[in-house]
Amino acid sequence: MAVRYTLDDLPRYSPWPARLLGLEPWTPRQKTSSEVLREFDREKWGGLLARLEAAAAPPRVEEVDQWFLGALPETLCSVGDELELLSPLEAAHRQRALIARTLEGQFPAPALVELGAGYGSMLLWLAQQPPFSGAPIWAGELAASGLAALRRLAAAQQTPVEGGACDLASPELAGWRPPPGAVVYTSLATMYVPRLSPRVVEVLASWGPRAVVHFEPCWEHCRSDTLLGLLRRRYLELNDYNTNLVTLLHDAERQGRIRILDERPAVFGANPLLPISIVAWAPKEPSA
Ligand SMILES: C[S@@+](CC[C@H](N)C(=O)[O-])C[C@H]1O[C@@H](n2cnc3c(N)ncnc32)[C@H](O)[C@@H]1O
Repeated sequence: MAVRYTLDDLPRYSPWPARLLGLEPWTPRQKTSSEVLREFDREKWGGLLARLEAAAAPPRVEEVDQWFLGALPETLCSVGDELELLSPLEAAHRQRALIARTLEGQFPAPALVELGAGYGSMLLWLAQQPPFSGAPIWAGELAASGLAALRRLAAAQQTPVEGGACDLASPELAGWRPPPGAVVYTSLATMYVPRLSPRVVEVLASWGPRAVVHFEPCWEHCRSDTLLGLLRRRYLELNDYNTNLVTLLHDAERQGRIRILDERPAVFGANPLLPISIVAWAPKEPSA
């Protein structure tokens, strides 16, 4: 019989319950753009880019996932309302499959666009799966090293990629725009902007996308009537993650500017304190 895990098991797999209860020392960091660039541009993706540049032959993106996740121990994950013990690679695989299942309902479309795409773990994998294979692929990313790594990995699998620098914290968002009707998504990226500007929704809507889909932890979706919900809320606050994505989208819908197509709270979390919700929307009047 499968082992059933509860919240009581979490401290054996994560330091966060003790940190959130103030029982273990931990220094909070603000998610300023220089802090995000330290974490991703210099450390994570900067290190990866150096390794890719030194590699005799460029690896496939799945191999890079293995570099990052392959040696990590099993971890408790949240799957809907349940907790399951999974390897980080299995958790990443389930999250990718969930994202693919969600986006495929929007295809065929003139382009698939990811903002905050990192080295392309999600996007370059999707680009090889039907119904996305063959669709023009666009990537936006803040960290120059992430974009450079993504471009190398894309070239190795012969996936042409357009797009370029993008800052979800800037009112302009990006100096490029995908074709009208594109399917745009974010995955664990808007969460790095503590307070998103309403302008982000306006700019995205002005691209005339068929749909914009966020796979993001949502502060507003953390329940206040369960211990897990309260821990999640505190986790987001202490780590200075985003707290207003859902509020912005609800406001834009009330103002008649967008239509929310789907909203599913806390669907899956490789970290049970940071589960992704799925929120999909479309502009009310697509404009080119
Ligand atoms: C946890 S990684 C997720 C990468 C990818 N979306 C995935 O799901 O595999 C977060 C990514 O968001 C990017 N990011 C953080 N802040 C951003 C911003 N303001 N604008 C664009 N990208 C940002 C980071 O550089 C990093 O590549």
